Amino acid sequence: GASLILPLQPILVAAARRRLPESKLPAPFAVPLSIPPVLPPLTSEGTTDFYEITMREAEAEILPGRSTTIFGYNGITPGPTLSVRRGRTVVVRQINALPQRHPTLRYECTTSVHLHGNATPPQYDGWAEDLSAPGFFKDYIYPNDQNERTMWYHDHAVHHTAENTYMGLAGLYITDEGRNIPLPSGRYDVPLVVQDKIFDTDGQFLFDDDGQKELMGDVILVNGRPWPVLQVERRKYLFRILNASTSRAYRLALSTGEPFTFVSGDGGLMPAPQQDKTFRIGVAERYGVVIDFAKYPIGQQVVLRNLELKNNEEFPSTRQVMRFDVVSEAADLTRNEVPAVLKPGGGQDDPMALQPSQARRTRDWRFERRRGQWAINGLFWDPRRMDAAPGLNDVEIWRFDNHSGGWFHPVHVHLIDFKILDRNGRPPFPYERGPKDTVYVGEGEVVRLIGKFGPHAGKYMMHCHNVVHEDHEMMTNFEVGKGGPDPVTAAPPRPVS
Ligand code: C2O
Ligand code: CU
Repeated sequence: GASLILPLQPILVAAARRRLPESKLPAPFAVPLSIPPVLPPLTSEGTTDFYEITMREAEAEILPGRSTTIFGYNGITPGPTLSVRRGRTVVVRQINALPQRHPTLRYECTTSVHLHGNATPPQYDGWAEDLSAPGFFKDYIYPNDQNERTMWYHDHAVHHTAENTYMGLAGLYITDEGRNIPLPSGRYDVPLVVQDKIFDTDGQFLFDDDGQKELMGDVILVNGRPWPVLQVERRKYLFRILNASTSRAYRLALSTGEPFTFVSGDGGLMPAPQQDKTFRIGVAERYGVVIDFAKYPIGQQVVLRNLELKNNEEFPSTRQVMRFDVVSEAADLTRNEVPAVLKPGGGQDDPMALQPSQARRTRDWRFERRRGQWAINGLFWDPRRMDAAPGLNDVEIWRFDNHSGGWFHPVHVHLIDFKILDRNGRPPFPYERGPKDTVYVGEGEVVRLIGKFGPHAGKYMMHCHNVVHEDHEMMTNFEVGKGGPDPVTAAPPRPVS
């Protein structure tokens, strides 16, 4: 009877969901790029701005003429952009109005919100088990006393970060970059949030992480639209590129073969601009990139391409990301420069000024596959276990060793900005020569970075930002403030190598 069949329905429904065939994917370069709206504060008082955001299920038109169920901050994805001023305290009330259970995956829709790129006091950092259930809210307080940078806020719920962010829980949080230098601004300063998705034949997001390995979509979205087009003038533009995908990394290039000019990394402006014709960008990395369209005649089309080969054979649609169409002369040529020095640096809290001789110790972190899951130093995530205890404001070198065969890991350290010292003993790529908080650790790579563990004491996470790996245990914790020996091995700190 019906009572026997009913409990099986979710399984049958899941099995019946099929990937939208390649022939049914939307045509590339058919929709205009949209820009996530900037959210005004609800109220302001003295030095504090108050915001309110509601996480809820909503419908979005992503595939032309079809409706997709998403989870959105204020019901949109990407969520609204918070554009804030340095020195002003920001309070964000995050209200969880999601359904009790995910519509198809059936987990409980609890959330935790992390502001990625911010030195946040630990109680507001989006600890994976600091969960708000549907019907509850949490007020997050951000001091905003760091330099200008492009950040993003996203879900960090334990074991469901991949599903929650995939459903749409991600948005930008920008402190004005380069206000005092003549970089492009206003409508010439454009965020590009790049993601990949799988749609099913009903036009719904299909979550397929290939047995907790990775999610590889065949539809590329920029700011929530498939392979969009941006009409540009003949002048320079600043693009703030964020890879907000679940697992996919990109190797971006322009179809014209012209180089990009890099002006910022995750933690803000680079000391000096750098150029390269291509760059790798793993999940959660941000680069500020200037493209000069004055090089091209009106009528030129410039495709932002993805050269990363992994899965491109399987999904040729992922070889392109979006297109820029040069349509007119520049209406405005102010702030059309990239100065030779962007940030003189050398300040107390500039990670680019840190030298290995300042480091108190080197810590080794090994990333590997273990029993079908993902481990750091042989261990899976345990919220009660602290694997490192840097003293407050200690400078440390962290060495990331990727021992997992054919897998890469974009590794994020909460709280700090760092400088990449070297990769396999060689200098970092030109575009990595700025402040970072996430580093691409490629297949067989060993990356060393240096950072200062402050300004807050407390418990923070470090993890792979392939959020499928993160959810399946490639995450660890460190506690700033106590100092002393490594709490797990009780081994004395290893001297700087
Ligand atoms: Cu972007 Cu721990 O997160
Ligand atoms: Cu990983």
